[in-house]
Amino acid sequence: MKLFPAATTLAALAVALIPAHAQTSVAEAQVNALEGLFGQHEGLRRAHARGLCASGYFIGNTVGRALSSASVFSGDKIPVIARFSVGGGHPKISDKSRTVRGLALQFSLPKGEQWLTANISAPVYFISKPAQFAPFMAARLPDPATGKPDLVNLKLFSELNPETLRQGAYLAKAPVPASYAAANYWSANAFEFISAKGQRQFVRWQFVPEGGPLGLTDEQLKSLPNEFLADELRARVAKAPVVFDYKVQLAEAGDAVTDPTLAWPDARVVVPAGKLYIDKVEAAEGGACDKLTFNPLVLPKGIKPSADPVLLARPAPYGVSLGRRLGEAAK
Ligand code: HEM
Repeated sequence: MKLFPAATTLAALAVALIPAHAQTSVAEAQVNALEGLFGQHEGLRRAHARGLCASGYFIGNTVGRALSSASVFSGDKIPVIARFSVGGGHPKISDKSRTVRGLALQFSLPKGEQWLTANISAPVYFISKPAQFAPFMAARLPDPATGKPDLVNLKLFSELNPETLRQGAYLAKAPVPASYAAANYWSANAFEFISAKGQRQFVRWQFVPEGGPLGLTDEQLKSLPNEFLADELRARVAKAPVVFDYKVQLAEAGDAVTDPTLAWPDARVVVPAGKLYIDKVEAAEGGACDKLTFNPLVLPKGIKPSADPVLLARPAPYGVSLGRRLGEAAK
C-alpha cells in the first residue's frame, strides 16, 4: 500500500486549495483534466463527445405559464435543436456504458430570445463545487503500471469528497437506457421561475419519456453492439415523433438549491409544464449542433439561475471546449 498519493493526485488536490483568482483558469484546468482522462479528440466536445443532433419543437402549457413568464410556455410551437449524448469525453465510448446520457436543447424563442439547457440521465451531478471537477477526473486516471485507477488515490479523494460518490451510486443501480428516447433527463442544477406576477419558485426540471424509461436487459447488454443508440433513435423518429413530458419539481423551504449532488425529497410536487417533440434526427454526427455549446446560463426572461456554484461555473469550460474544438475543425 502506498503511504502517499501519487503526484498527479496531489497536484490535482492542490488545485482545489488555490483561490480561483490565483489560477490561470479553473475552466482551462477542468477541460485539461477531461483531456487527461479521455484523450484529446480533435474537433469534438471534451465532455459528452459521443452524440447526435436532432430537432423538433416544444409546446408549453398553462401550468408552465402560471409558474414562469418565459415565452417558451406560451403554448405556441417553439423550434428546438436537440443533442443526445453519452457522458464522458471519448467519442467511442460504448452505448452500453453506465455513464449518464445527455439531452441538450436550444429553444429559439420569439424576438431573438434563446434558452439553452443541457440535462443528464441522473437526478444528481457528481460534484458540489467547481474546484472538485479536475481532481475528480485526476483521481480516475489509470496508473501506468496497472492500466487501472490507483485505488488508494481514488479512496483518498472520495473520503475527502464523499458527495462525489452520489451520482455513481445512482448509476450503478439504474438500468442502462435502451434508447436515447427512453431515458429520463434531469437538470440536476436548480433554477428559479419568475411568474408574470413576480412570484418566485425554485425548481428542477426533468424531460420524462412519454412511454416511460426503458432499460437494457442483461441479455441485451450481452448481445447488442457497442453502437446502437443513434440508429435506434433514427428508426424510432422515422415512424413517429419522440415525445418527452417536461416536468417541473417544486422546491420547498430548506431544499438544497445550491448543491446538485443532493436530490430533493420524492414527496416534492412535480407538475407537467409542456411537451418536447423530436421529429428529425441527423443522418450522421455533427449537423447544426457542431457550432453550438449549450451554455446553461443562456436563459429566457422568466427563468433565472440559482446560486448553485456548479451551475454558475459551467459557461467558462463550455466556452473553452467550444474554442478548442472549433479551432481544430477549422484547421
Ligand atoms: C463545473 C461543472 C461542469 C463542467 C466543468 C462541465 C464541462 C463540460 C464540457 C467541457 C462540455 C463540452 C462543451 C462543448 O464542447 O460544447 C460539457 C458538455 C455537457 N455537459 Fe457539462 N460540465 C459541468 C457541469 C454539468 C452539469 C451540472 C450537467 C448536467 C446537469 C452537465 C451536462 C452536460 C451535457 C449534457 C453536455 C453535452 C452537451 C452537448 O450535447 O453539447 N454538465 N460539459
